[in-house]
Amino acid sequence: MDPVRNPYAPGAGQRPPELAGRDRELQQFEVVLERVARGRPERSMVVTGLRGVGKTVLLNTFKSMAMQRLWGTGKIEARPDQSIRRPVAAALHMAIRELAPRHRAPERIEEFLGVLKAFAMRDPAAAKGTSHWSPGIEVPASRGRADSGDLEIDLTELFVDAAGVATDLAVGIALFIDEMQDVQPADVSALCAACHELSQTGGPLIVVGAGLPHLPSVLSASKSYSERLFRYARIDKLDREAADLALILPAREEEVEFTQDALDALYEAADGYPYFVQAYGKVAWDLAPRTPITLEDVKVSAPEAEEELAVGFFGSRYERATPAERDYMHAMAQIGDEPVPTAEVADALGRKPSSLSPARDSLIKKGLIYSAERGLIAFTVPHFGKFLRAQPV
Ligand SMILES: Nc1ncnc2c1ncn2[C@@H]1O[C@H](COP(=O)(O)OP(=O)(O)OP(=O)(O)O)[C@@H](O)[C@H]1O
Ligand SMILES: [Mg+2]
Repeated sequence: MDPVRNPYAPGAGQRPPELAGRDRELQQFEVVLERVARGRPERSMVVTGLRGVGKTVLLNTFKSMAMQRLWGTGKIEARPDQSIRRPVAAALHMAIRELAPRHRAPERIEEFLGVLKAFAMRDPAAAKGTSHWSPGIEVPASRGRADSGDLEIDLTELFVDAAGVATDLAVGIALFIDEMQDVQPADVSALCAACHELSQTGGPLIVVGAGLPHLPSVLSASKSYSERLFRYARIDKLDREAADLALILPAREEEVEFTQDALDALYEAADGYPYFVQAYGKVAWDLAPRTPITLEDVKVSAPEAEEELAVGFFGSRYERATPAERDYMHAMAQIGDEPVPTAEVADALGRKPSSLSPARDSLIKKGLIYSAERGLIAFTVPHFGKFLRAQPV
């Protein structure tokens, strides 16, 4: 059928035509926004889940919800090799730019921008003169606030001031952090401390995160009180009903239907994982000659969808691993699809567990595997074991 009208959207962060099965999380976030705006004590939200399960898309939806309430919003994507100082400065700059036109005291905005600039210029790279980056803020940097160089102090002061600007307008500010497990340990600690401080003063600024399943343990390793700061929402594959809706509703808009056995086969193939739902749906649409999309269409299109996933979803990640890391993952895949004991991986490779720590740690750092519990390791990518078992070693 007409590929131009194809509604499905496989791809990292691609907004799905229908955000299926996330009503509970959306409702919870409504409550968070409402309570924070009223100065009520409330834990912020952190969304966790495997790769391709829809964390980024959900975070973006939360951001739209905050914007609809006229909140100031900003978003960053954490990277393991980068301090969050600069990205946070840029994101709060965006948030304040959203609020500024409605604020009746321009000097309050200017004052905040002066603090923000001072905060940004405290970036270690900027201090060493190794970077010519400028925050793009016209006002002169102020002195004596958020510029101590200690990120914990500086973030706290910056957040308090930003929240103050939002309070003037009876709204809030939401800072979204994607790939939050990649925030450097020292920065995680500073971030939690700043959120903690803010939660005590009731300032309407929240940090909303998304990351891999081990993110809660990253946060609690840094600050034991992190569980009291964040409400963790683990999102998973879609149940049958939601997965069907994700396919049916967008098609219906284009007056296209699915037969029941086509839906059965699609659920079997995609296993409810949102990325796979989009990928199989997209190819089935393109190859189906007419509505309704039938079981036969799904069968014909599945190999092509698998091929695309093998390159785009699995392959692009596999490529990032070194030969030693690939051996490690192949050994994991041979053991099974449940989280596997690291000791068993070592056994399978005929090595001492300690000699495999570097490979394991760098795979964790690359976001390909995560430590599910103490001593257990699992793939962050759904169906990755199956993909690896189909690879020539
Ligand atoms: N609730 C949903 N219903 C239907 N499709 C969805 C849903 N959530 C996400 N998708 C689709 O799944 C794909 C992956 O979404 P997204 O990039 O948000 O996942 P992610 O969890 O951030 O993955 P990663 O860990 O790789 O960053 C996208 O193509 C998106 O359109
Ligand atoms: Mg993502």
